[in-house]
Amino acid sequence: MEVLTGIKTIRAKSSKLKEIDFNHIGFGKHISDHMLVTDFHAGDPMAIGWNDPMIVPFGNLSISPATLALHYGQTVFEGMKAFRMADGRINIFRLEKHFERFNRSLHRMCMAEVSFEIFEEGMKQLISLDKDWVPGVEQGALYIRPFSFASEARLGVSPSADYRFIIFTGPVGQLFAKPIKVKIETGYIRAAKGGTGFAKCGGNYAATMYPTKLAQEAGYDNVIWTDAREHKFIEESGVMNLMFVIKGKLVTPPASDTILEGVTRDSLLTIAKDIGVEVEERPVSVEEILNAFENKTITEAFGVGTAAVVAPIATIGIEGNNYQLPIYNDQNIMFRLKRKLDAIRSGVADDVYGWNTIIE
Ligand SMILES: Cc1ncc(COP(=O)(O)O)c(C=O)c1O
Repeated sequence: MEVLTGIKTIRAKSSKLKEIDFNHIGFGKHISDHMLVTDFHAGDPMAIGWNDPMIVPFGNLSISPATLALHYGQTVFEGMKAFRMADGRINIFRLEKHFERFNRSLHRMCMAEVSFEIFEEGMKQLISLDKDWVPGVEQGALYIRPFSFASEARLGVSPSADYRFIIFTGPVGQLFAKPIKVKIETGYIRAAKGGTGFAKCGGNYAATMYPTKLAQEAGYDNVIWTDAREHKFIEESGVMNLMFVIKGKLVTPPASDTILEGVTRDSLLTIAKDIGVEVEERPVSVEEILNAFENKTITEAFGVGTAAVVAPIATIGIEGNNYQLPIYNDQNIMFRLKRKLDAIRSGVADDVYGWNTIIE
């Protein structure tokens, strides 16, 4: 197996780090100094596969207007985080799980898969070089964006022969400042059985923007997607999976080919089972949520994802009516789970599940 020691690196002439106020980082506004880049060529018999990756200063790409990804959408990404641990070291959280999902997405989009060596070693060396970009502030993290796109330049709907894989990073703070307001969507859909809902491909996100914009114009932060056939069952929301606490049990829709199988979802369910919270992964109908509001048996609703971690939901709009969740407090299940997750990621609690990849 190939081991990538000492990836060729061209350092940025100057750093943008001094422009960052780590106490007001925001989300998605800043990008670190370097990126990792490698190309895949199937057409060249002398160089089939991925080239040696390189780390270069973050900068613009020069690509042909005929680049296939720009037209037919063969493009896949991941979203993950690295954390500054309590002892100052850096932890890339759940690297393997994100890598597996990345390749599952690439496979579905008929794109060249990436080797674990390039993904892991490339990411580690990139983050080591930009280590000062990893925030040390509470709720701060280094967001990591690995992605790949069809880079062959030609016309015609068929899989590209060439791909480019890039990783870049940027420091981020909290995504939502307060509990959010979401609307159950029963007109538009995000994913249908047999489609690409489980893949983290660009098209899935493009298709959600218009219905999300309509919901935002109506005063909501985002939508809750329902199943494409009947709009009866809850799927997920924006860039988050969903969890509810109903009659004291943690309830979440099951993983399927119409939902992105979230890494945060998996981490929180694992922790919940371990701390004795009763967990049910099963279909959740809109009717069940309505009844639970009427009977006052729903006590929590929240989104879970890498960006937000846990996003408390204050209001759910169902068929034109808004339903309020109770005011939340420290003892809510969502915050207990989040505290445990934070403790593992920062090294304060033991990494009993082997989720941390620590950069020494
Ligand atoms: C559509 C969608 N669902 C769920 C999630 C949550 O997944 P994760 O916890 O792996 O970030 C994301 C974010 O990546 C997403 O984009």
